[in-house]
Amino acid sequence: MNNIIDGKAVAAHIKAEIAANVQQLIRDGGKAPCLAAVLVGHDGASETYVAAKVRTCGEIGFRSKLIRFEDDVCEEELLECICGLNNDSDVDGFIVQLPLPQHISEAKIIEAIDYRKDVDGFHPINIGRMLAGLPCFLPATPAGALELIRYYNIETKGKHCVVIGRSRIVGKPLAMLMMQKAYPGDCTVSVCHSRSNNLREMCLQADIIIVALGKPYFLKADMVKQGAVVIDVGLTRLPSSATSTGYKLAGDVDFNQVAPLCSYISPVPGGVGPMTIVSLMKNTWQAAAKTIYP
Ligand code: GUN
Repeated sequence: MNNIIDGKAVAAHIKAEIAANVQQLIRDGGKAPCLAAVLVGHDGASETYVAAKVRTCGEIGFRSKLIRFEDDVCEEELLECICGLNNDSDVDGFIVQLPLPQHISEAKIIEAIDYRKDVDGFHPINIGRMLAGLPCFLPATPAGALELIRYYNIETKGKHCVVIGRSRIVGKPLAMLMMQKAYPGDCTVSVCHSRSNNLREMCLQADIIIVALGKPYFLKADMVKQGAVVIDVGLTRLPSSATSTGYKLAGDVDFNQVAPLCSYISPVPGGVGPMTIVSLMKNTWQAAAKTIYP
């Protein structure tokens, strides 16, 4: 009965749409949008994510700039870089890849970003505007998950959605967006997390489960009711001798046992992951077109 959500195909479709828009913009004498990425240190996952963001920019005709710092960069130097990007009229939007080294305050760095260029949607102004239902840059992972729900026309109105995870950049905004008066949304939302007592019982009541906990294979078949929709936002690298990279990507859902129960399920890899980058590109397009902040 289950439909496996193909995030790769949806992402390819949206990327083609953006690429066509860029070509039209250039034909009309406009300038290709420009995304800058700031990468501190050499964390393997961050390297991979940033490389994928830069590569995607190239694929759809955006310009990109990669600015690198070593792990021992001081906060002041990073703040100076952000100030420069805020004032660089050639850069439409930029991101600072997280996590940052311990000695740097992520909150301080994020607050230093001009919210009109904050295409990650992490700045408190964008978070506040999202909460208020005002136009803003939505964080890419939640926006990508919602886009999949929309693309597959999955019914959400009046449904019970259980979000597992309460992180600032995924769980919290997802819960917020799933309760908003809109489509996707209009759900009754429960937010569960690592300290929840009755997590299994909560999940068993869910029509839609969105798992964003970062614990590989956490969601098991005995936590899911027949016909539920399961969206897996987990992405953990596990060591593997079977791959050339030395690791494999694992989601938060025990896919093989959960999938047969679901009406829809998003896999890892190939589910929400590819959509995250597409959402970042959409935000960059909007930053360049100044549709949100004229
Ligand atoms: N680290 C993990 N996910 C993200 C993201 O979406 N944006 C940034 N800047 N860092 C991340």
